[in-house]
Amino acid sequence: MDRYMPISSKFPHIIHGGDYNPEQWLETPEIIAEDFRLMKLAHCNVMTVGIFSWMALEPEEGKYNFGWLDNIMDRLAQNGMMAILATPSGAKPPWMSQKYPEILRTQADRFKDLHGGRHNHCFTSPIYRKKVNQINGMLAERYGKHPALILWHISNEYSGECHCRLCQEAFRNFLRKKYENDIEKLNHEWWTGFWSHRYTDWSQIESPSPRGEHETHGLILDWKRFVSHQTIDFFKNEIKPLRELTPEVPVTTNLMGTFPGIEYRELAKELDVVSWDNYPTWHTTEQPDWKIAARTSFIHDLNRSLKQGKPFMMMESTPSTVNWQKVNKLKRPGMHMLSSLQAVAHGSDTVQYFQWRKSRGSFEKFHGAVVDHVGHENTRVFRDVAQVGQALEKLDEVVGTTVHPQVAIIFDWENRWAIEEAQALARDRVQYEETCIAHYTAFWKQGVPVDIIGAREDFSQYKLVIAPMLYMTHPGVGERIEAFVNEGGTFVTTYWSGIVNENDLCHLGGFPGPLRTVTGIWSEEIDTLHPDESNSLIMNDNSLEFIGNYRIKDFCELIHAESAKVLAVYGDDFYKGRPVLTVNCFGKGNAYYIAARTGDDFIDDFYTALTNKLSLTHTLDSKLPNGVTAQYRADGQNRYIFIMNFNAEKKEISLNGIYTDLLTEEERQGVLELTPFDVKVLKQKVF
Ligand code: GLA
Ligand code: ZN
Repeated sequence: MDRYMPISSKFPHIIHGGDYNPEQWLETPEIIAEDFRLMKLAHCNVMTVGIFSWMALEPEEGKYNFGWLDNIMDRLAQNGMMAILATPSGAKPPWMSQKYPEILRTQADRFKDLHGGRHNHCFTSPIYRKKVNQINGMLAERYGKHPALILWHISNEYSGECHCRLCQEAFRNFLRKKYENDIEKLNHEWWTGFWSHRYTDWSQIESPSPRGEHETHGLILDWKRFVSHQTIDFFKNEIKPLRELTPEVPVTTNLMGTFPGIEYRELAKELDVVSWDNYPTWHTTEQPDWKIAARTSFIHDLNRSLKQGKPFMMMESTPSTVNWQKVNKLKRPGMHMLSSLQAVAHGSDTVQYFQWRKSRGSFEKFHGAVVDHVGHENTRVFRDVAQVGQALEKLDEVVGTTVHPQVAIIFDWENRWAIEEAQALARDRVQYEETCIAHYTAFWKQGVPVDIIGAREDFSQYKLVIAPMLYMTHPGVGERIEAFVNEGGTFVTTYWSGIVNENDLCHLGGFPGPLRTVTGIWSEEIDTLHPDESNSLIMNDNSLEFIGNYRIKDFCELIHAESAKVLAVYGDDFYKGRPVLTVNCFGKGNAYYIAARTGDDFIDDFYTALTNKLSLTHTLDSKLPNGVTAQYRADGQNRYIFIMNFNAEKKEISLNGIYTDLLTEEERQGVLELTPFDVKVLKQKVF
């Protein structure tokens, strides 16, 4: 059996619940009593409490009030429910900011924040770190052995940066360590000979500021690294008392998808389980829902890949609408079930909400919740949630299962930091993330599972590794890709790859630098097209078993095939006839180079061809209609197949084989009808 342990050994089920803030309702105990009645009706089994509760726990410095939380924890246990307990550092009490102004953040323009909002403390302040440590220690002592406790939820959505005096000093120490106390090393890596920027003393270095230095790429990159490092360091400080007092209780912190500010792969190493907050913009008029779905799937897969396949948690999602999107649209009938099971399909062992009950006042009073202001269960949203709860109760056997994809797409944080800063091309059309998602979507449409990995991860378990726009190559990445291809792997990369090293210094001697040997090409120039211009890719070579003409937009590299074979050429402009798609046989494998940005039509045809050539495993061997995908999780004996229709229309697929529908307990074979926004969970024995 190939299965991970449940998130908590106390609870071998799919977690269904939400952020619960009873501290807002202490004056109306009847509402809290009602909550517990409603939780059962909603088929919720775990509540997340204590996020932003610092004021309720420590109303004055050193004066604590745990009574209300004792009561909630006990009632959860009495009602057969579990608790995820948060540490409260996401929002500091007003008295603390007033007494210790150093905990307030300083912005890049060097102005200090006033107290207010949330998520805005200095990550360096020794006072804040000490305060956080104290309160976390008290929570661990008091609730560490509580029968309801299954998990620590650390803070909330870490983000942002601080430019205070303490952070400047910490940044300089970070640099001293990185450059081994040798400022000339720093000067070399930051290329400070440019514009007379050479530093002669560490004290001259300041974090980037719109009022000061904000154009030295090496500085910007190291600052981003520092912010990420310091946030993770703050996290480590937060969990110290928890690890000491409750070593058996796992910890997580809720991530935000592809949030650029923190290198999540580094943070994930410190977590026992990854969790993330998922708020797709369903039902826009700008894109079809299936495109939003593919993007959301990409992020689910990223979260699963952060811990090499270990199931993750969807810590937050909305049961209906949020209150902060440009247009706050309700989920259409069916979408709540579909989007909830979509998370499970990609490896989430939870479906959780922000929020259990709508607050009565302030900023989030109109954000979707399981319980609305009306206060009872007779609402559409409540019924949707209860239905999801009932469905999840049928999926116990899915807990801990995972998938081992044969395809990996590299989506790398440091590469993203560098590529987005580079002063080149058309800065508003760099679209690194979108490009990775476009390549991913070609597999999503075919129901071929994919991992989303970093450039520094092991490639050997994959048949196909794709590195769109791998602008930055860390030391050793080129060699590892060569070894991967040499051993029989297939590698695909694109324009704007192999341009700089890990400190954003250009590779000398010909792009794509360390990828030149494996791709067998030299990229001499890159042309940027205006938004209304295009070129074309002419594919006459049938070695991948497809030919055609495809539109090219945005970026065209002028490459020379050195050892590579040309598969397609440009159709227009002065570089008409020059290579745009090449393949290089290298050892036992192949490396493809796509020299220009194409539309989805080419990407789809290209990856369909590679999928066939490499005989990659499809979740289902049936043709999937547009907007329908199939994803699976398995344990070595059974496959759990999630078939999802992201269209507002009916679709059908024909099944080969006999499956058990886990939600209805019916047998399924032949034509499977999918209603609008339908999802089916089919079990297949595979031993
Ligand atoms: C984030 C936060 C929550 C809440 C939701 C609203 O994910 O973590 O506290 O504000 O957004 O969508
Ligand atoms: Zn600071």
